[in-house]
Amino acid sequence: MHVKKTLIMALLASSIGLTANESQNSSLIASFNWAVGQANGGNYGEPRKQFEVRDYSHLIGMPGFSDKALKAHFKLYAGYVKNTNLLLLEFRKMVDSGDLSGPIFNELNRRFGWEFDGMRLHELYFENLGGNGELDKNQTLYRLIERDFGSFENWKKDFKATGLIRGIGWVILYQDPRTGRLMNVWINEHDTGHLSGTNPILVMDVWEHAYLFDYDLDRGAYIDNFMKNINWQETLKRFRQ
Ligand SMILES: [Fe+2]
Repeated sequence: MHVKKTLIMALLASSIGLTANESQNSSLIASFNWAVGQANGGNYGEPRKQFEVRDYSHLIGMPGFSDKALKAHFKLYAGYVKNTNLLLLEFRKMVDSGDLSGPIFNELNRRFGWEFDGMRLHELYFENLGGNGELDKNQTLYRLIERDFGSFENWKKDFKATGLIRGIGWVILYQDPRTGRLMNVWINEHDTGHLSGTNPILVMDVWEHAYLFDYDLDRGAYIDNFMKNINWQETLKRFRQ
């Protein structure tokens, strides 16, 4: 049985094209659980519908971010992908069995937004890094930042101050698609404080794991460095004119 299990895991690893051990382990567990469910006669969803760990290794070498910090961060992110998939599988098993009324179903549902947002916010964060930190003044986004914050410098001061709020969480520059209004918002942990229906334009992680490796407790220095590495080209894809 152990040999069979190892073989299935190796096949799954190959099929999803992972190379890093950490990513392998996290994604693999979810995929393996799906396979076990199938083998036991269950039908817990198609594996192609599972979320996959995205590869952000191109960020290695980014100024001000050590390899050690980035690799640890990628590993943490992979954990959120794993748990998001695991929770979706659990929900499917519960609905199949009709076991939907107990505290386990309740509490797992309460946890889902935390895991999903932990996954998605890390993706948005890594994807809006790797640039030169410069936003072209001729871009509509730049002009709307000036409109809604008074000046680009004002926006930076507000964004940084929001990032220095005590606690763990995120700062997001959100755009309200109904009005075009831009707002800097503090997100507590991963799931508290989001504005319904708004689009995240720029996402900054200010959990301690994002800066302790390289900046100790100097979160301000980390934020300054984050700003220097913003990939504004990516944020323009998220922005609605
Ligand atoms: Fe993080």
